[in-house]
Amino acid sequence: MKGIILAGGKATRLRPLTIVTSKQLLPVYDKPMIFYPLMTLLNAGIKEVLIIVAPEYAGHFLHLLGSGKQFGAKFTYEIQESPRGLADAFIVGEDFLDNSNATLILGDNIFEDNFTEAIRSFKSGGRIFAKKVPDPERLGVVQFDEQNHVLQIVEKPKKWISDYAIPGLYIFDNRVCQFAKEVKPSARGEIEITELHKRYLALGELDVRVIDGQWFDAGTFDSLLAAGKFIAGQKKG
Ligand code: DAU
Repeated sequence: MKGIILAGGKATRLRPLTIVTSKQLLPVYDKPMIFYPLMTLLNAGIKEVLIIVAPEYAGHFLHLLGSGKQFGAKFTYEIQESPRGLADAFIVGEDFLDNSNATLILGDNIFEDNFTEAIRSFKSGGRIFAKKVPDPERLGVVQFDEQNHVLQIVEKPKKWISDYAIPGLYIFDNRVCQFAKEVKPSARGEIEITELHKRYLALGELDVRVIDGQWFDAGTFDSLLAAGKFIAGQKKG
């Protein structure tokens, strides 16, 4: 199993904070944001991590994180020329993966849960997570039936279908690289990660696990502040 952190994009929602730096380098209490998803991967036992960054800030990430040696891991860097969509991580990352399975985490996603068991026990197919949220309309959403089978997966549903959002940590087997190349751009011009979930769902190979711990997508002023407060609260016990 290899890990990928997707830390590119333009983060226009966070301007002016992101005019001279990348969102994933902004502070979340006492650490740069990317440390949190990085620790989620490392704590789960992943030792090889690809960090995908936007061209403007590649040097900043290298300066901050280096070779990975001080983390007991090996880091590789790739540049994503333009934010084509989350599924692009598996196209940019294909050579790095070299037929391995992949855990992708978004560089602005902060999790309380530990994913060691979910990653270690993974064999094939796709494994994603679901978390009850008050604002599912701004996220990928999964709807379950009474037996907890997945009924459908929708990216930013216009009409309410469920309170369960799909957070930014995804485990896929290596077929995902080929599947990503087959995704057609959505109305917002991106190759959507939810198309990959749907692909594995159609094959009957998608496992969706509900998580209970805190989860932040720190991409807005309010969620950035909430994430910082949560981390501060944990530190102060
Ligand atoms: O946070 C979880 C959500 O992330 C999921 O529930 C959605 O299904 C998924 O589409 C995504 O939704 P967002 O609209 O929040 O994605 P956003 O475009 O904000 O990108 C998420 C992060 O990935 C952001 O930190 C920037 C980075 N990114 C994004 C794109 C599109 C890249 O590095 N490259 C890209 O091409």
